[in-house]
Amino acid sequence: MNIKAYDIVVFGATGFVGKLLCRHLASRGSSSGLKWAAAARSREKLEALRHFLGPEANDLPLLIANAQEEKSLADMCAQAQVVISTVGPYALYGEPLIKVCSELGTDYCDLTGEPQWIRRMLDRYEASAKASGARIVHCCGFDSIPSDLGVHFLQKHALQRFGRYCTHIKMRVRNMRGGVSGGTVASLMNAVKEGAEDPAVRQALLNPYLLCPLENRPNTRQRSLSRPQYDGAFGAWLAPFVMAGVNTKVVFRSNALLNYAYGSDFQYDEAMLAGAGPRGRFKAYAIGGALGGFITMAAITPARWALSHFLVPAPGEGPSPQAQRNGFYDLRFVGLLGDGRTVSAKLTGDADPGYGSTSKMLGEAAHCLALGRKDGKPGGFWTPATLLGDTLIEALQTKAGLSFEVLEG
Ligand SMILES: NC(=O)c1ccc[n+]([C@@H]2O[C@H](COP(=O)([O-])OP(=O)(O)OC[C@H]3O[C@@H](n4cnc5c(N)ncnc54)[C@H](OP(=O)(O)O)[C@@H]3O)[C@@H](O)[C@H]2O)c1
Repeated sequence: MNIKAYDIVVFGATGFVGKLLCRHLASRGSSSGLKWAAAARSREKLEALRHFLGPEANDLPLLIANAQEEKSLADMCAQAQVVISTVGPYALYGEPLIKVCSELGTDYCDLTGEPQWIRRMLDRYEASAKASGARIVHCCGFDSIPSDLGVHFLQKHALQRFGRYCTHIKMRVRNMRGGVSGGTVASLMNAVKEGAEDPAVRQALLNPYLLCPLENRPNTRQRSLSRPQYDGAFGAWLAPFVMAGVNTKVVFRSNALLNYAYGSDFQYDEAMLAGAGPRGRFKAYAIGGALGGFITMAAITPARWALSHFLVPAPGEGPSPQAQRNGFYDLRFVGLLGDGRTVSAKLTGDADPGYGSTSKMLGEAAHCLALGRKDGKPGGFWTPATLLGDTLIEALQTKAGLSFEVLEG
């Protein structure tokens, strides 16, 4: 096997999430036995990162690479078993690195939540990743690890307990606290802009099976929770969940990569629980209105300009350390077995979803990818659940503050 200088290279180490991710990897110390390096386009910012990480990072290896210069990316990849990228918006900056990793056989994971871009990468580079052995795993942050692994966890339980998979799983955000960074807002606004400018992209974003292989795509109609509605089973009003558009597509891709083990008519939907009674109804409409307002503004050029200049954080900015520490999330998964019986599970995280928790999830996904190098899984575009499954659940519970629990009764 080709021995590389580093097991993991963090590309985008000087960004908001990149720094948190490096702090997580540094806190893992040498316990995992993995060697890692930080990469970015600015040496000055990389030196500042060493300072941010403290004296123990004095010897942290630093690499210079630019997302728009293929040669510099190839030099970086030649030294890495796994590259983690936090250089986003991925639809603007991510393609050259996917191309290089796919061609050179370098494993890769990232935080993209941009399904239209993932579809383009699949169409252009899946064949070369399969040929080179590169394992590409998108969506290794809050979107979409909790959804993808929550479904994996509940389906495994259903199979063990009842000998069959759930035909329908509902994910409900019971509670959540956290903030947004400039990078995430920039990615969201770019996806809305692409959709507003190109009807084909808009159509693609509405297709729940966008990330499934083109052949044998299911045609089961999926329930859309894009408007507030009452859910009798939960006794609460539901509000649309901003991440549902990407999470549901990742879950359906996992099912497709499992040869539709959950059934080609498997149903999955996500929403936020807004509470019962008139207060719950008001909250559901307030959340739905805020989300609709943001999308409308992001679709109109002058309003988008005003949003990015006056209302949302700039790239590199994000929630304060205190907001990250005080953040958390509590997700519920309810599975219907199709015969009246149900199973359910709870998934919680101990930090704000988008940054504190996301950086730990991404770091653990990369660890599992690096340590699983010899597991014989072939190259291609995977999902977190299908490539890393139970190994990642174990790592998330022991090293990243997540908890997966079956709820009885
Ligand atoms: N899935 C999730 O749950 C989740 C959560 C959080 C964030 N995200 C995504 O993660 C990405 C990063 O977010 P963030 O908040 O960390 O953004 P950020 O602070 O703006 O960081 C972006 C990084 O990209 C680097 N970069 C930009 N252009 C480059 C180029 N040409 N060559 C090399 N590096 C370049 C920046 O380098 P400089 O430092 O030199 O400017 C910076 O390090 C975004 O796409 C965001 O949507 C996803």
